Amino acid sequence: MLGRLNHVAIAVRDIAAASALYRGTLGAQVSEPDALEEHGVTVVFITLPNTKIELLEPLGVDSPIAKFLEKNPDGGIHHVCYEVDDILAARDRLVNSGARVLGSGEPKIGAHGKPVLFLHPKDFNGTLIELEQA
Ligand code: CO
Repeated sequence: MLGRLNHVAIAVRDIAAASALYRGTLGAQVSEPDALEEHGVTVVFITLPNTKIELLEPLGVDSPIAKFLEKNPDGGIHHVCYEVDDILAARDRLVNSGARVLGSGEPKIGAHGKPVLFLHPKDFNGTLIELEQA
């Protein structure tokens, strides 16, 4: 069911500073920030030869990463995103096996314009998993 690793997401307090760190110190290709109001985050993508890194900064008062940054004030790895060929089939298979899908259970359009779902970290070794339609 699982396809490629689409990205690893890192929550940060200051996306400009984190972008400068990746662009300058680490010499990576870094996108401009994109404010995704319906997701409560500003995102930057770092393109690597084999995958991407997503930097996430809280946007607005109800940001889903605000609590994470309270617990992890230096920032940290927030989720991993795997591609699936058929996100609805993947969801149904996971729900049937007892895994919990966050939110309404219906895919939302993610940062790449494709449908995404998030799976409960307690069902997956303490790791928040994002599934993205390939
Ligand atoms: Co993501």
